[in-house]
Amino acid sequence: MKLKDLTFKKLLTADRIEKKVAALARQIEEDYQDKTPVFLPILNGSFMFASDLMKEINIPCRVSFVKISSYSGTVSTGQLKTLIGHDESLFGTDIIIVEDIVDTGLTLQKISDELKDLGAKSVECVALLRKQPAREKNIPIRYIGFELEHEFVVGYGLDYDGLGRNLRDVYSRVGE
Ligand code: IMP
Repeated sequence: MKLKDLTFKKLLTADRIEKKVAALARQIEEDYQDKTPVFLPILNGSFMFASDLMKEINIPCRVSFVKISSYSGTVSTGQLKTLIGHDESLFGTDIIIVEDIVDTGLTLQKISDELKDLGAKSVECVALLRKQPAREKNIPIRYIGFELEHEFVVGYGLDYDGLGRNLRDVYSRVGE
């Protein structure tokens, strides 16, 4: 599969992802059965994961989309924009950040800090994918779908220069 100048091969099938999403939902339901969590998907990458996850969650909850970006092309720029779009008060709420992928962990760290400043009661994260650098930095992520090494991936919401978000499977770059 090609996107612009890069070639990709299938890494995770839609079927595998679907099963994993359901398993993550069961874990979250169990941990939050007496709470009403606010799911906070980080746009754009987590839109597909968030949509599938929310359909699997069977406890009372809220959803509020936010946006932040640190990526340009295939390398993290380290340039973080601020969290935008949280229109309802998050004070005193149990927040679950919904991330497509955690690479360096900079984005997640930044968002967690900002949410704690806003007075969130608790902040946890569910990430479909986690890369090696985030493991090295030991960023606490309560719910993780799949562990990756360093590979650049696209599909299921993830993009390469805006392309590939619509794909139902996850693909990894060939010849890195
Ligand atoms: P971090 O701040 O380095 O952890 O980067 C997290 C964000 O970068 C994710 O929410 C994605 O939007 C983006 N990102 C990280 N790795 C990839 C990748 O392999 N493909 C596409 N986007 C990625």
